[in-house]
Amino acid sequence: MKPGLHALYARLADGNVHNGAALAEEFELTRAAVWKRMQGLREMGLEIIGTAGDGYRLPHAVELLDTDRLRGHLRSRHIQVEVVGAVDSTSARLAELGDVHGHALVAEAQTAGRGRRGRGWQSPPGSGLYLSMCWRFESGLAGLAPLSLVVGLSAAKCLRRIGAAAARVKWPNDLFIDDAKVGGCLVEVSGAAEGPCRAIVGIGINLFATPAMAGLDQRWTVLEDHAPTVERNRLAAALIDELAAAFAGFDDGGFDRALEEWPDFDALASRSVDVLVDGRRVASGRAAGVDRQGRLKLETDDGPKRLAAGEVSIRAR
Ligand code: BTN
Repeated sequence: MKPGLHALYARLADGNVHNGAALAEEFELTRAAVWKRMQGLREMGLEIIGTAGDGYRLPHAVELLDTDRLRGHLRSRHIQVEVVGAVDSTSARLAELGDVHGHALVAEAQTAGRGRRGRGWQSPPGSGLYLSMCWRFESGLAGLAPLSLVVGLSAAKCLRRIGAAAARVKWPNDLFIDDAKVGGCLVEVSGAAEGPCRAIVGIGINLFATPAMAGLDQRWTVLEDHAPTVERNRLAAALIDELAAAFAGFDDGGFDRALEEWPDFDALASRSVDVLVDGRRVASGRAAGVDRQGRLKLETDDGPKRLAAGEVSIRAR
């Protein structure tokens, strides 16, 4: 976010009405320039209620991200956390930095947030949590297949811990509450088949509704509707702690521990599902958990099948 936009956004974050003339005076701008910046924030997907005459306000107060506050909640002392105003994508930025093991990046907004399967991820200022973390694994690429599920499980645990008791994971790592998507995970791995490799793990969580969500092509929900309060610094720290512990456990002991926990978080358990490739149904059956490679077990009329993440997407009926 341009510094001028960030300053105004930070001013609105208290959720109160801010008069256009008072903002113009405070920031030494004309009222027209204040209006233009409000439009800039709206173009980033932020909902701002009101006009220069009535005053501007956000639909709700937002806790701004703050490095010290976030670190204050963090238990893992060896993680390096950076908080930024806006980036194209926290995952893309970490990838550019190279091998930054244990480095976490959290942004107030993303201008080119990335989702799975080449899709975008809407990331207006303050409306979600946009976090990426880099981790080096000693196991080779082949052993990392279940990592996607471990990430989803870790995020769902955090959501439950802050009060969203119905948080689950839709295989492989979509975050769901009551059959609606509340967040998603993007796991990008690189390295050698046998040797050490690097994962950039990105998590996006919908915290507050935005106008653009109306155009999404699947059922969605926001954390605000399921948790008593949304403290973004606390949630970011909880996610980083949970991921750091899960990554260390996965590198040491593999997927076994997470596999035991999976049934309690499995949003597809025993449900009838369609298997889609490029949006077209290629099979259907009943979901029956996951195997030790993180593949979805499916019971179909033609017998049991195992599906690897990345090859297909799943739609519950
Ligand atoms: C999905 O498609 O469900 C995955 C969405 C992942 C979005 C997060 S937001 C933080 C990180 N940076 C990105 O550009 N994408 C991920």
